[in-house]
Parts: sequence; structure tokens; C-alpha cells
Amino acid sequence: ATRRPVIAANWKMAGSQQLGEEVLEKFKLLPSSSAEVVICPPSVYLDSLQQQLSKHSSELVNHRISLGAQNMSHQEFGAYTGETSGAMLKEFGCSYVIIGHSERRRMYGESSDIVADKFIMAQKMGLTPILCVGESLAAREANRTFEVLNGELNAVLDKVGIMAFDNALIAYEPLWAIGTGKSATPEQAQEVHAFIRQRLTEISPFVGEKIRILYGGSVKPSNAADLFTRPDVDGGLVGGASLNASDFVNLCRIAS
Ligand code: G3H
Repeated sequence: ATRRPVIAANWKMAGSQQLGEEVLEKFKLLPSSSAEVVICPPSVYLDSLQQQLSKHSSELVNHRISLGAQNMSHQEFGAYTGETSGAMLKEFGCSYVIIGHSERRRMYGESSDIVADKFIMAQKMGLTPILCVGESLAAREANRTFEVLNGELNAVLDKVGIMAFDNALIAYEPLWAIGTGKSATPEQAQEVHAFIRQRLTEISPFVGEKIRILYGGSVKPSNAADLFTRPDVDGGLVGGASLNASDFVNLCRIAS
């Protein structure tokens, strides 16, 4: 495929300013990478990462490293204690924002409706949403994987329309593979990625062919090559392994 791979780091509520430095130092040692790299630290670290990126910019010209946030408010501005707006994320250098991560859906009660509203607000603010979808173990065992994914996709598609996906990424993250050390097999990932692409292609062949679909769930250097070479897997959304600078840069090398 002609799609440029994307490797996104989701630090979740971990990492440090120091980790940002370490990751950029490792990138400086890598001659070049063709994959697009997105680093999504906790929001409070965005400022320092943005400064580090500009400080090292001349040594990072052969890499494409952008910043992303892990979440944002679906509201534009106002009395929403504890929330961060898309405009604020933009001001601190973000180009991307993760929307609807399963941890947000399950632990913080984010409904499909809120996820769709966040997707809309992200684009309104000039951010590219990385929309996460994925089935639970119970759903997989009950052969309901495609039904769950369809539901999560439709909740957004019905509200935003297919053309909004021209400027979005999708991350397929099976819940049973997140943080468990047990990745989906490359065959399982490919099957679901092909299904998602097919769903979009039925509505718009242009969008379906173009959209990057990342796999997330226990991606690490030892399983990445086999996942990333599958035809419909366009990179990864990496949690645990993104907290180790060598592993993360290695993943970007493998994807390039
Ligand atoms: O957003 C990242 C995913 O939830 C995967 O996390 O690589 O620690 O399994 P993980």
C-alpha cells in the first residue's frame, strides 16, 4: 500500500519530561525514518516536549515527529473543571488527539455519543482525531467482534459523515490485548483491519483506501514486524513499549 505508516506513543498516565529527552536523543541516532511518529504524553508535558522538539529540530530533520494529546473536551470553552480544550492543545503544539480510547470509554464513562462529539470538536479545532475502537474478550468469544466494531464506527460515522474520515486515523485496540502482554495475532489484526477498511470503502472507496488504521495492544519490538507488514495494518498505537525510549524508536525503525 502507499499509505505512510504511523507509530503513535500513548504514554497514558506515565512518562516524564526526561522520557521526552531520551526519546528525542534516540531519534537523533537513527539516520532517518519514513514512518510518521506521534508522541502523546500527558497534557502537562506537552509544553516541554514542544520546546525539546524545536531545540533539537535541526538534528531531527530526517524524522517526522508530531505531538498528540490523549484526550480533549467535547466543549469549546468555559466552566468545565479539569477539562482541556482542543484550542489549548493546538496552542501547545498538538496535531493529533486520541479519541475514545477504551480506558476513557470504560473507566470514565465516555459514551459513543460523547466520542462522536469529541471527534467533531477535534476537527473543528484543527486536530486530527485518532479514533479508537475495539472489542472485549467476551464479545470476541461470543463472535460479536464485527458487530461491536460496527457499532462503534457507526456512532461516529452517522454523526460526522464519511468525508470527515479523510482527516482521521483509526486505531483498532482489542481490549484483551491492551497492557496484557498478549497481542492479537497478525492474522487477527489483519482480519479486523480489513473489515474496518471494507466498511469505509463501501461508503467511499477514496476514504477507505486512504485511511491509516493502526493496531494497538501489546505492540513491542518482538512482534511488530509481523504486525506492521500485514496489508491493512498501517502502524501502531503503542502504550507500554512507548515508555522505553529504545523500544519505541526501534518500533519506528521497524515500521519505516
Ligand atoms: O493506546 C495504547 C494501547 O492501549 C495499547 O497499550 O501497548 O500497553 O498494550 P499497550
